[in-house]
Amino acid sequence: MAWAWAAPQSVLEGRDLAGIEVGGRRLAVYRLAGDLFATSDTCPHAGAPLSSGCVVEGYIECPVHYALFDIRTGQSDGSVTARRLATFPVKLEGGGIYIDLPGDEETTR
Ligand code: FES
Repeated sequence: MAWAWAAPQSVLEGRDLAGIEVGGRRLAVYRLAGDLFATSDTCPHAGAPLSSGCVVEGYIECPVHYALFDIRTGQSDGSVTARRLATFPVKLEGGGIYIDLPGDEETTR
């Protein structure tokens, strides 16, 4: 595991979706029913920023062609693309959001 500090917990204060940058990667973090999730912020269809989209019943809806991806699994609903959205393990520790990025060195803040 290579947990990287990603953002303060407050980034999700009053909202269920935020775009962040971790180790040069654009990610999206979500709060669903009190749990945290993280995905790539880049739509696997044509690269739109998913953090500009909407959360709809556990799915992130892409703001460009409206594909839906399950936030928990990254699975596409198949309406626009069959490509899966990358997901990452996420944890909350000491008021910070940490994300496990494969291949990265562990970082703390
Ligand atoms: S860019 Fe997201 S569905 Fe096309």
